[in-house]
Amino acid sequence: ALLSGNALAQKDWPTKSINLVVPFAAGGPTDSIARLIAVPMGQALGQTVVVENVPGAGGTIASTKVARAAPDGYTIYIHHMGMATAQALYDKLPYDPMTSFEYVGQVADVPMVLLGKKDLPANNFKELEAYIKANGSKVTMANAGPGAVSQLCGLLFQSRMGVKLTNIPYKGTGPALTDLLGGQVDLLCDQTTQTIPYIKDGRVKAFGTTTMKRLPAIPNVPTLNEQGLKGFEVKVWHGVYTPKGVPQPILDKLNAALKKALNSPDVKKRLEDANIDIVPASKVSAKGLKDHLDTEINVWGPVIRKANIPD
Ligand code: MLT
Repeated sequence: ALLSGNALAQKDWPTKSINLVVPFAAGGPTDSIARLIAVPMGQALGQTVVVENVPGAGGTIASTKVARAAPDGYTIYIHHMGMATAQALYDKLPYDPMTSFEYVGQVADVPMVLLGKKDLPANNFKELEAYIKANGSKVTMANAGPGAVSQLCGLLFQSRMGVKLTNIPYKGTGPALTDLLGGQVDLLCDQTTQTIPYIKDGRVKAFGTTTMKRLPAIPNVPTLNEQGLKGFEVKVWHGVYTPKGVPQPILDKLNAALKKALNSPDVKKRLEDANIDIVPASKVSAKGLKDHLDTEINVWGPVIRKANIPD
């Protein structure tokens, strides 16, 4: 039988390059993971995967754009747990994380570290606590907007410390880290994707990790949990999505390409070096991602509402 136009388009897909939308600025953690998987995914699919940065409003601008994009498989999307937290931070979003997308699979879990600029007078968490208590809103903290994990981490930190700092939004933690390195901002809670080398050579101060165990790459940095912020845990999971309605055969090809990319030795090494956990194979699936998203919406919603937004 002859294939209809639609079926033919699905069978031949992809016949041109694919856009991978990133909801934050270039040079940041989400962008890095996107560029890391874009190359092997493109190789697996026989077409180039082009990263397109659509920053702003903590990732919700990109999510809106992707939700409205044509479901032809040429727009795909990588986002982190902001997909689950944004609903609790915005009164009304023009998309619904549970119904506006198709789910390709989970990607990786990234730890975070509370960082300070090099010449901040505090040298450890205790001193930071005293410094913050003494200086209050004179202390500045960078974030990438409501829906960004840097904002979530900063929000939880300020709530637990009982302080309100001056929060400064950026288009991503890439530009925020640049300002931290330049001394223009005091604090930033960022993922380890880019930050380990800067912590190791002292270009930024590390006050604590958001993990329950210390990170092997920076074993001298205590966890926030062990320094008094009991249970302070944020692990940043990522997922790959498409607009709702992309045909199943295309989703299957995307899933196979994502799996292949995550199994590539280069990708594994790069993630390991940053102490990023690759998710188990069962989670690199539509069900794995969608179930996790659902769980996380229910976990973070009440936490965020209780913590109150500082800005
Ligand atoms: C980024 O890629 O810039 C970050 O993931 C932003 C954030 O969520 O903190």
